[in-house]
Amino acid sequence: GAPPNLDVATMPALQNDLYLRAARGERTERAPVWCMRQAGRYLPEFRAVRVENDFFNVCRSPALATEVTMQPIRRYAGLLDAAIIFSDILVIPQAMGMRVDMVPGTGPRLPEPLREPADLARLVDQRKGFSVDRELGYVYHAITNTRHALAGRVPLLGFAGAPWTLMAYMVEGGGSKTFAAAKAWLFRHPQAAHELLRRIAAVAADFLVGQVHAGAQALQVFESWAGELGPREFAEFSLPYLAHIAAHVKQRCPGVPLTVFARGAHYALEQLAAETVFDVISLDWTIAPADARARVDRALRAAGSDRRVVLQGNLDPTLLFADEATVRRRTAEMCAAFGAAPHIANLGHGMMPGHDPERLRVFLETVHQASRALRQ
Ligand code: CP3
Repeated sequence: GAPPNLDVATMPALQNDLYLRAARGERTERAPVWCMRQAGRYLPEFRAVRVENDFFNVCRSPALATEVTMQPIRRYAGLLDAAIIFSDILVIPQAMGMRVDMVPGTGPRLPEPLREPADLARLVDQRKGFSVDRELGYVYHAITNTRHALAGRVPLLGFAGAPWTLMAYMVEGGGSKTFAAAKAWLFRHPQAAHELLRRIAAVAADFLVGQVHAGAQALQVFESWAGELGPREFAEFSLPYLAHIAAHVKQRCPGVPLTVFARGAHYALEQLAAETVFDVISLDWTIAPADARARVDRALRAAGSDRRVVLQGNLDPTLLFADEATVRRRTAEMCAAFGAAPHIANLGHGMMPGHDPERLRVFLETVHQASRALRQ
């Protein structure tokens, strides 16, 4: 059916707005906390759903997507301050006409990758009647359904993959250690690369706006392979598209907090802060929070900007394999390193399949205690 537009008037009021307040740069009594991949294979209840259902069938079924989105919210009741809709960044290449399989134990595979510029003709084109809202309406249904299930407990985040990261999968045909084929495209076919990136950015921007209309209360853009680029290629092939997406969404959905997670791109912190309108920059664990804060503030001052940029992150997820006392100590140290400035606590990347769900609980509880103590 038609993609749902959430009737906000019929929704229960939000009971926990810590995430939204922190994302707007307001002072909060403690740091809100959530985790990338909080719905995932480290949870036995998630694995139970996956035994019976293909990955993309979970994404396409509003009931199943809602169920797995709610799993961590129920398990860590009162500890998580945001839900993120269950889906994947690769729904965009799928909507653009590419086949994407989720291979158990391997990850995503695109059996017919883009091999040369002429292959762009295989992609559906927004200028030729392709409708983002129709192709990805199932995500909107999942979002609206999840808003009802959440009943105002915590805000719901929508998300999309960023153009370079999606292009990397579309050219590579799956994950890769070096993304050499995708990077080679940038150097051999820069014009075709820009055409592809532009088309993905247009889809991602419309998709994010549609998610807000369906009920998403904040958005995150995942540039997971930014670290493969380095400053020069990032400035040419990633940043302009991230900036475009943020500007497009800000204009249409003012007041909806926008986060960018450009993993490995600490070299570009200044540009992300001063040359885009993202409200939140999500950090991986390879940068010290105090350095990141200082560099962002300096870049904003140098640009004469009065924007507030909030930082999110950034505990190394592999720390959750350590013993409880270590998790407690390192989490408290992380909170201290971000200080009392607005901060959204998170991992520096996603939860991993082997993680003990109880270690995540220790992380969440420690953020609550440590970040509250810092603000007293
Ligand atoms: O809980 C959440 O964070 C929401 C759901 C979510 C998934 N993927 C579910 C998922 C989100 C936000 C994503 C984003 C995503 N997907 C990214 C960006 C974030 C990041 O990790 O850098 C990327 C690069 C992908 C592509 C992708 N999807 C990969 C590389 C893999 C395989 C690796 C892995 O962790 O298994 C996936 C599969 C995937 N997406 C799973 C989940 C829960 C596990 C697969 C399964 O259930 O079989």
